[in-house]
Amino acid sequence: MDILILNGPNLNLLGQRETSIYGSTTFLDYYEALSEKYKNEVRLNYFQSNAEHELIEAIHKNSLPIIINPAAFTHTSIALRDALLGTNSVFVEVHISNVYQREAFRKHSYFSDVASAVIVGAGLDGYEMALQHLLLKLKK
Ligand code: DQA
Repeated sequence: MDILILNGPNLNLLGQRETSIYGSTTFLDYYEALSEKYKNEVRLNYFQSNAEHELIEAIHKNSLPIIINPAAFTHTSIALRDALLGTNSVFVEVHISNVYQREAFRKHSYFSDVASAVIVGAGLDGYEMALQHLLLKLKK
């Protein structure tokens, strides 16, 4: 089985960006450890972009289940939402930080009501939780 992890804008800066909120691990280090841990169960694929259209194209090109952290596009992008709906993608929405404890503008998501699951505030572990959700769901 293959699963696609999609990260939105500024998540390439994990490890150096606002470390009190997002931690000091780079995503690539985390991703490599996660891929290794689950290598007998799933093949992980990863794409990050700061550009909305590149994320949309990655969704169009793929028919894989998706773990997506749309980052700031969570709160703005009807286009990304439509891409996921238009391709009938099964997806889990992940946020590293607890967006509900932060600024009011982070409380609205264009994805949560159509996501298979939403994981918020568990740090990078949220990606592993999303993966476990997809593995359980897709094995049923
Ligand atoms: C984020 C939360 C968003 O509000 C923010 O714009 C991000 C990261 C998170 O993972 O906590 O870039 O999606």
